[in-house]
Amino acid sequence: MKQESKVSLIGAGNVGATIAYSLAMNGSCHEVILVDRDEERAKGKALDMSQSASVARSHTVVKAAESYEEIAGSKVVVITAGSPRKPGMSRDDLLMVNAEIMKEVILKVKHYAPDAIVVIVSNPLDAMVYTALKIGNYPRNQVVGMAGILDSARMASFIQEKIGQGFGQIRASVIGGHGDDMVPLPRYSTVAGIPLTDLLTAKEIDEIVERTKRAGAEIVGYLRTGSAYYAPAKATAVMVESILKDTRQIFPCAVLLDGEFGGYTDTVNGVPVILGENGAEKIVEVTLNECEKQLFRKSVDSVNKLINTLKEKNFFGENK
Ligand code: NAI
Ligand code: 2OP
Repeated sequence: MKQESKVSLIGAGNVGATIAYSLAMNGSCHEVILVDRDEERAKGKALDMSQSASVARSHTVVKAAESYEEIAGSKVVVITAGSPRKPGMSRDDLLMVNAEIMKEVILKVKHYAPDAIVVIVSNPLDAMVYTALKIGNYPRNQVVGMAGILDSARMASFIQEKIGQGFGQIRASVIGGHGDDMVPLPRYSTVAGIPLTDLLTAKEIDEIVERTKRAGAEIVGYLRTGSAYYAPAKATAVMVESILKDTRQIFPCAVLLDGEFGGYTDTVNGVPVILGENGAEKIVEVTLNECEKQLFRKSVDSVNKLINTLKEKNFFGENK
């Protein structure tokens, strides 16, 4: 088995299992390992998925791990372990419970697969990326968070709904944290290369921006238990494939900032990133106008509030 093509998923719930399914159906890697505190559930899903890979004539084998040792040699480890939100909850309400889970998980990931690129999905996303980086004492390229691809895809789908044409030709751009203060960028969104601002009125664009910010909550409201997982899983699978194949494509991802975008440091936020075999290989700085800069600052402030809550509780201890 080639080390490069092993992917481990910590958390085999709705998002984790759907990522595994997407990777298995695409034959994106040789082996997918599912780790979940509910081992039986992981075993059942792994069997079902391996059988579906067989139907699809895919070479990917899906296995459930009985212990963390089985993640050794993974090129990518994806962490979705944690609680999803329920109606009425914000992503931030998950902070303490998921930070404890992240701490437990990341120490094991660092121990058994120290060289793996780690993709974080658990919410609140940006604070969880920060937690993984600090607790695991990782270099910043090695830990990236998934949210920007999802939020941009949601914005694109709302543009498509509004315009009613240009299907498959819409590119939307959302940066900032994965929360209510995310920063959709209509100026950097296009339909067949045509700027959105040429196609829709300011009011229509505002409606799309507001709906994008609430897109996760809209789905939670319909599902009643749990949150979205098809689009989150596909967005994560795209990131994993970019790392495995070293495509060096540019995606909005949550990474540690070190002076970029106007001098932000020691914080995590969603920005365009070149994603390749070394993880977040480079941050691509885009020019923001004054209004966009203010929105980005607000988003950084929101994430910093969560990080500061963890720091005040001395959550990072000596690793701080
Ligand atoms: P889920 O409840 O279906 O799955 C979570 C899984 O984690 C469960 O199977 C649970 O047994 C497992 N788990 C919990 N603690 C664990 C531990 N210590 N070790 C191993 N496994 C553990 O939830 P779902 O829908 O898969 O969501 C997972 C996380 O991803 C949530 O925090 C959710 O808010 C977040 N999320 C983030 C998105 C993003 O854009 N970044 C999008 C969608 C979800
Ligand atoms: C979402 O945006 C809950 O973060 C998750 O669907």
